[in-house]
Amino acid sequence: MTGTVRHATPDLDALAERWAVGARLVHQRRDPRRSFAIRRFAGPLDHLGKVGHLRVAHLTDLHVGAVTPLAVQFAAVELTNAANPDLVVLTGDFVCHSQLYLADLEEVVRGFRAPVFAVLGNHDHWSGASAVRRSLRRAGAEVLDNAHTVVELHHERLQIVGLDDAYTGHAWRPRAVRGLRRDLATIGLSHIAEEADGLWAAGVPLVLSGHTHAGQVTLARLHEQLVGRVAGHRYVHGLYGRRRPERPGEGAVYVGAGVGAAVMPLRLGERARREIAIFELGHEPGRYEEHHAEQRPMPGRRPAPRTQYARAAHVVRREARRRARTGSTAPEEPEP
Ligand SMILES: [Fe+2]
Repeated sequence: MTGTVRHATPDLDALAERWAVGARLVHQRRDPRRSFAIRRFAGPLDHLGKVGHLRVAHLTDLHVGAVTPLAVQFAAVELTNAANPDLVVLTGDFVCHSQLYLADLEEVVRGFRAPVFAVLGNHDHWSGASAVRRSLRRAGAEVLDNAHTVVELHHERLQIVGLDDAYTGHAWRPRAVRGLRRDLATIGLSHIAEEADGLWAAGVPLVLSGHTHAGQVTLARLHEQLVGRVAGHRYVHGLYGRRRPERPGEGAVYVGAGVGAAVMPLRLGERARREIAIFELGHEPGRYEEHHAEQRPMPGRRPAPRTQYARAAHVVRREARRRARTGSTAPEEPEP
């Protein structure tokens, strides 16, 4: 039998509000700062001699919205500021299914005392990339869409390469690395960690990423089974690769456990804790006692072309639905 089966479009905002009730019950009893792990790592060997010392705070997957209480977001900002970083980098998924909480996002990002650099994630594209970018820029963050920039801080220079989201097909590495300087200390930002290998080859020795939330349940190494073997991620949580490369084209990638969540508020296990990762660039690996050493990657599995196409098409469909709902005919891009 042939025919079209129509599925009702779920009201994601209503669904998220329902989750919020549960999330508030889970979180209201404890100080949200206690749910964070702050992990400190030295930078890559490549930076030695290129930068004296810069402290970078890496946070990812804020998912400002109904599932993650705002108190958690402000706790992340407070803890980050207390670490006194020279700059803050945020690697995508700022929102959670909708644009309802963009004002909150702005308030959160504005709270960071250090300069902020950001790249977008899949949730930002699903919810409306232009609106998320505008909010981030209004809050003072620099959003890097397949681009690089050089920031000067305390007489030190750092080159930052930002890839747009690879999950939804928006990453464009050749454009992002065009004109990259090899004489400057460089870090890369990419929501999807599997883009790191290509950035290493382009001369980026350390890439900071997110997306996996460390699986959110890491008891009995469940995250490695689900995020690694089932979902096909090569990098699941923490540090992989080499900060001391042995061959050309090698580098390191860090997958942050994230701050928020998009669906399930639950986090279980030490590795699953909300996380702020501090990187001491210009300081040699081995200088600090670190939470873990570089790990061996999972086997990994590239998404099939059909899957990649479906992910990109999903963004287009969501935008069309949003426009139909709001009656908007204005172009989504470009913007300043
Ligand atoms: Fe996420």
